[in-house]
Amino acid sequence: MMLSGNAKLAGVIGWPVSHSKSPRLHGFWLDKYNIDGAYLPLAVKPDEFEIAVRGLHAAGFRGVNVTVPHKENALKIADRVTERAAKIGASNTLVFHEDGSIEADNTDGFGFYENLTHGAPNWVASDGPAVVLGAGGAARAVLIALAKAGVPEIRLMNRTRARAENLAEELDAPITVIDWDKRNEALAGCNLLTNTTTLGMHGQELLEIDIFDMPKTALVNDIVYVPLMTNLLEKAKAHGCAVVDGLGMLLHQARPGFNAWFGTDPVVDEDLRQFVLED
Ligand code: ATR
Repeated sequence: MMLSGNAKLAGVIGWPVSHSKSPRLHGFWLDKYNIDGAYLPLAVKPDEFEIAVRGLHAAGFRGVNVTVPHKENALKIADRVTERAAKIGASNTLVFHEDGSIEADNTDGFGFYENLTHGAPNWVASDGPAVVLGAGGAARAVLIALAKAGVPEIRLMNRTRARAENLAEELDAPITVIDWDKRNEALAGCNLLTNTTTLGMHGQELLEIDIFDMPKTALVNDIVYVPLMTNLLEKAKAHGCAVVDGLGMLLHQARPGFNAWFGTDPVVDEDLRQFVLED
């Protein structure tokens, strides 16, 4: 739609930002809900992050998404930080409030959990143990979300065991650290398996795991979404498990920002998935 003088403005700040799917995703919703608003890609160098944010704020923007390499900086310049962003130690969503304050939020864990519950409506987090592979930045949001959802036990494995141990120590979550080499056996009796490593991503090595011991009732998720059906998901599907791909996490994590800036909690549906995939 054509913009009026009252158009609501938001965007995504990154360096680089040209790979970001967020303008297309938010643009789809702006169009769908016929909103007088715009969402722009904003390429901002690391040392100009703060000046850019203050400038956008002064220019009447309602907020921005923040991506690599600015996510930690976004926390530092905010006046207020949500509990989940503070726990994760990074922010992907800044909301500029009418009183002039900047609030930093992190919606990655929300996106992760909403993706699971929308993709597998019969799955219940508290029904049994979750196995989490990986201990990088993405794992942190996943672990916090699983603990909040009431998962009784989280079996955490990472190639570099010390990173998993650090997370277990730092987070208030029922985490047991297990050796990366024991990942096949660790699947026994689990209710969820989620891969937060980069293994299986286009151009990376495949994730080597034998899922023979995993119950067929377990839900399997990959946060990798290029390709959409990773080797892990293919294997899990053939085993009889329900699978949820990683694209939905990206789509759902965008909802709280869109709602804060444009006033509508948008729907994630198949049309949106196809539109974002066509990019
Ligand atoms: P992010 O913050 O996006 O999660 P990251 O911090 O680079 O990214 O984490 C990538 C994850 O993939 C880590 O858990 C990493 O394991 P290490 O902590 O041992 O590096 C995991 N990973 C990447 N390549 C791997 C490989 N070849 N084998 C096993 N794990 C791998």
